[in-house]
Amino acid sequence: MRGTFGLVPTMGALHEGHLSLVRQARADCDHVGVSIFVNPAQFGPNEDLGRYPRDLAADQKLLEPLGVDIVWAPPPDTVYPASYQTWITVDEVASGLEGRQRPGHFRGVATVVAKLFNIFSPDKAYFGQKDAQQLAVIRRMAGDLNFPVQIVACPTVRAADGLALSSRNSYLGPEERRAATVLYRALSAAGAVYNAGERRTAALCAAMKAVLDEEPLAHVEYVSAADPETLVEGERVDAGVLLSLAVRIGRMRLIDNFLLETGDAHAARD
Ligand code: PAJ
Repeated sequence: MRGTFGLVPTMGALHEGHLSLVRQARADCDHVGVSIFVNPAQFGPNEDLGRYPRDLAADQKLLEPLGVDIVWAPPPDTVYPASYQTWITVDEVASGLEGRQRPGHFRGVATVVAKLFNIFSPDKAYFGQKDAQQLAVIRRMAGDLNFPVQIVACPTVRAADGLALSSRNSYLGPEERRAATVLYRALSAAGAVYNAGERRTAALCAAMKAVLDEEPLAHVEYVSAADPETLVEGERVDAGVLLSLAVRIGRMRLIDNFLLETGDAHAARD
């Protein structure tokens, strides 16, 4: 195939967040592929694999006007035949935060994304900042395994009230949907504290926690202020910060994050 190929891996139930990745790929690359695969390997035994929303016809309709060259939606046994035995585990960057709450999750993500990279050999692959740790894990995996692919991070697309778009938001009842805005408000509060000069991890986490504690429907799994690349939580975050949190509201588990970088931190990394 001549020209550059951009890949957008998804699990379907597409929304504007996914579509923003496709548009970016379309703008950057000669050819664009979208994979739609609800990857069983990244769901824990008590997670929502069976209930995960699936509507291939609706997804295809949303992709149609965007000029996608290939939509690949394989059945599970094409990706994982009964004989399947090979897994990719990423160590430290996958071990905290989501990795701690969802054992095996990133093993499933890293494995399926590596398979997609082998199947499509993309020049660029597009991922959302919405899943910041996933992005960090995939960057590490692609670098460590010498995949000749450029990982492109795209900004989080949000509803007008700040809630990050997610395929799972449709399961929120009206009261829960209202309560879910607390994630964005908590991140904004900690962001303001950070922008005012606060660099102590504990103080940034306390700012998020204080807002979350005011919402009775929200049950906090974690709040974190960590190094954006390694996700290590030191005592201070002088080289920029990834503020992230996971909150249960009713049966739903929601995650969100802000990536804040100092001018200095940026210069140091470039
Ligand atoms: P899925 O949750 O379908 O998300 C596909 C891609 O869309 C991911 O890169 C995700 O970060 C991005 N995305 C989701 N919501 C977004 C939003 N509101 N704004 C911007 N981007 C958003 O993430 C997965 O699937 C899977 O783990 C996958 C990478 C496909 C591997 O199975």
